[in-house]
Amino acid sequence: MRTLTGITPSGTLHIGNYFGAMRPAIEAQAQGDCFYFIADYHSMTSLTDPQERRANTRGIAVDWLACGLDPKRSVFWRQSDVPEVCELTWLIGSLTPMGLLERAHGYKDKTAKGLSPNFGLFAYPVLMAADILLYDTNAVPVGQDQKQHLEMTRDIAIRFNQTYGETFVVPEAVIRGDCANVPGLDGQKMSKSYGNTLEIFGDEKKLRKKVMSIVMDSRTAAEPKPDADRNMCIQLLKLLAPSDVAADFEARLRAGGLGYGDLKKALFEQFWAFFAPARARRDELLANPGYVEQVLKEGAARARSVAAVVIKRARKAAGLD
Ligand code: TRP
Repeated sequence: MRTLTGITPSGTLHIGNYFGAMRPAIEAQAQGDCFYFIADYHSMTSLTDPQERRANTRGIAVDWLACGLDPKRSVFWRQSDVPEVCELTWLIGSLTPMGLLERAHGYKDKTAKGLSPNFGLFAYPVLMAADILLYDTNAVPVGQDQKQHLEMTRDIAIRFNQTYGETFVVPEAVIRGDCANVPGLDGQKMSKSYGNTLEIFGDEKKLRKKVMSIVMDSRTAAEPKPDADRNMCIQLLKLLAPSDVAADFEARLRAGGLGYGDLKKALFEQFWAFFAPARARRDELLANPGYVEQVLKEGAARARSVAAVVIKRARKAAGLD
């Protein structure tokens, strides 16, 4: 059973990314065969600065390794180090109806915003399907926003198999559940587009300030708060603190007597402690860029050996041998 997912190399990771996507991916390593890659080809549809792409790709690799991605247990590589994925994009793209791609949400949203679409943006779901099919993937954990892309991948795989004979494994989407609903600092879902994020590896002073500026209601400290479970600091503490500590704060908030300032202070401390090991590991990795590069190269070699078998099978099926 092979699990595969692509990591978009954009910007700074926040704790919503961590609890939504990273932690489940890291935990899945205990179950075996995990394939994780950094989708740098995909970044080309929107980013044209080579230095920025390079820096984002390395940055995201470091952050994932720091958070527990273990290259001994997972195959971890940079998408563009296995260029066979582009060949497969052509093979399957030639069977992908325009109408299917025209219905893609990502493409529709961007064109609706007035963005002038390029071929890459239009073909994005085909490249994503190639990412998945190239590695005989069984399961693809993704957020709700990627569900349609997975349906397209399945359609494309089935169509290829019907046209050229059994070639591809038809993958299943594993839509990430509740744990992805990490409250942001304004109480909405945490998301970069809302500007309400708590960065995993941000500056201590700035992050403390962010936490201390969370707006709470105007009830006094002494007042009992029967809705303590709905308080967003409590919800975040439940993710970040040992469960007895979180439960204790919740009980004190409910009973009355705990002020919001003290609650926020506790939240920051628990957050900071939670990521302390990852921060230390990240500092080591940043001091050792050669190691990170080597991890990605070795991952690419392992990924490529799987890809070679599948692309050969697909070429043969399509009469390209
Ligand atoms: N499109 C995905 C996202 O935006 C990233 C991605 C690229 C991906 N290729 C993939 C995810 C293959 C799963 C499988 O999150």
